Amino acid sequence: MYIVNIATLHGIVPGHVDRLRGGDMATGMESIADAWLRYEDGVITGFGNMADFPGGDDEVIDADGGMVLPAFCDSHTHIIYAGSRQGEFVDKIRGLSYEEVARRGGGILNSADVLAHTSEAELYESARARALDMMAKGTAAFEVKTGYGLNTEAELKMLRVAARLRDELPGRVKITFLGAHAVSRDYKGRQGEYVDMVINEMLPAIAGEGIAEYVDVFCDTGFFTPEETGRIVKAGARYGMKPKIHANELGNSGGVQVGIDHGALSVDHLEQAGDEEIRLLAASDTVATMLPGASFFSRLPYGPARKAVDAGCTVALASDYNPGSSPSGDMRFVWALGCIQQRLLPFEALAAVTINGAAAMGLGDKCGAIAVGRDASLIITRRLPDLDYIPYAYTEPWIRRVIVRGV
Ligand code: NIG
Ligand code: FE
Repeated sequence: MYIVNIATLHGIVPGHVDRLRGGDMATGMESIADAWLRYEDGVITGFGNMADFPGGDDEVIDADGGMVLPAFCDSHTHIIYAGSRQGEFVDKIRGLSYEEVARRGGGILNSADVLAHTSEAELYESARARALDMMAKGTAAFEVKTGYGLNTEAELKMLRVAARLRDELPGRVKITFLGAHAVSRDYKGRQGEYVDMVINEMLPAIAGEGIAEYVDVFCDTGFFTPEETGRIVKAGARYGMKPKIHANELGNSGGVQVGIDHGALSVDHLEQAGDEEIRLLAASDTVATMLPGASFFSRLPYGPARKAVDAGCTVALASDYNPGSSPSGDMRFVWALGCIQQRLLPFEALAAVTINGAAAMGLGDKCGAIAVGRDASLIITRRLPDLDYIPYAYTEPWIRRVIVRGV
């Protein structure tokens, strides 16, 4: 298949590049004006300038003067959930904080109650609908977490739904076990015992299914401590699961340090990360993932993305799509927030929502950029003045077509 008459093909990287760090985020992706691109069996096989268009008898998609970009890679979502939490949304408008909602037994525990009474089939249907909606909005690879089960049986139910999403959707899906998302109601006041149960009961059962590649812990004020996080990710490592940690959303929790110490693929949130955390991230291979949609929705500070890029970190932006703190998986809006609220330049933020998101899922060499051999996961835009226009005109429906691994 050829795509022709591309006003500008963006997001091109040399074949060996699987992430962009610091200053490279602004300059590491190249563009070709007046371009064509070819793909076969879901994989990019060539691209160039229309003056050198090779032709042939392939089928052709006419981009008609639109741009082509790599599709989004959303490295942090919780799209498997039951019900919705607009009641808490209204409570928070009235003045309650996220932590107060959680302390009153709402929040994650609320979602766990509903999930317990939701069939696996229903859970799958609702998660699939969210995934298809994300794809229509430009996402072709995403991560999904468990974490609304909070007991072994319900976590396994979530895991099976995740595996079906991975196996039945055209996009790439990476799966993370988040048993330590909150202490379940049954273990109220017995956090240490809950952590022991996660390690001794849940983890072996989850690992036995061979579905989850990563292990996550909500390491934050009012949730799990760095010491508990360390124990859980160490236990996960015995099953070959790499950490991806919820860190520094509600406080300067020590989550960044424990993540880096255990070779985390990413530490995520970082709203409360300070200069020391940024320095440590810049010196590590751990991706600094920020979730501006959660900051927007929860009226939290935005993660220090500008400082992190200037310090040399690999910064990714993801949606955090979940029913409590970010009920949206629209990466177009995440891109715009990265520019408007976090002061990333449009090209830096493009790297953050594509190749660096891929890197945060261990997929930096597979998707999120234009290079021969990478996924033909692409967004064809309407005719637009230039790339900067996209996050600027942030409510305009600028996508004309989304191609996910050639489909
Ligand atoms: O990433 N911070 C922890 N977990 C989710 C929220 C989950 C929920 O409230 O249901 C988050 O924001
Ligand atoms: Fe999250």
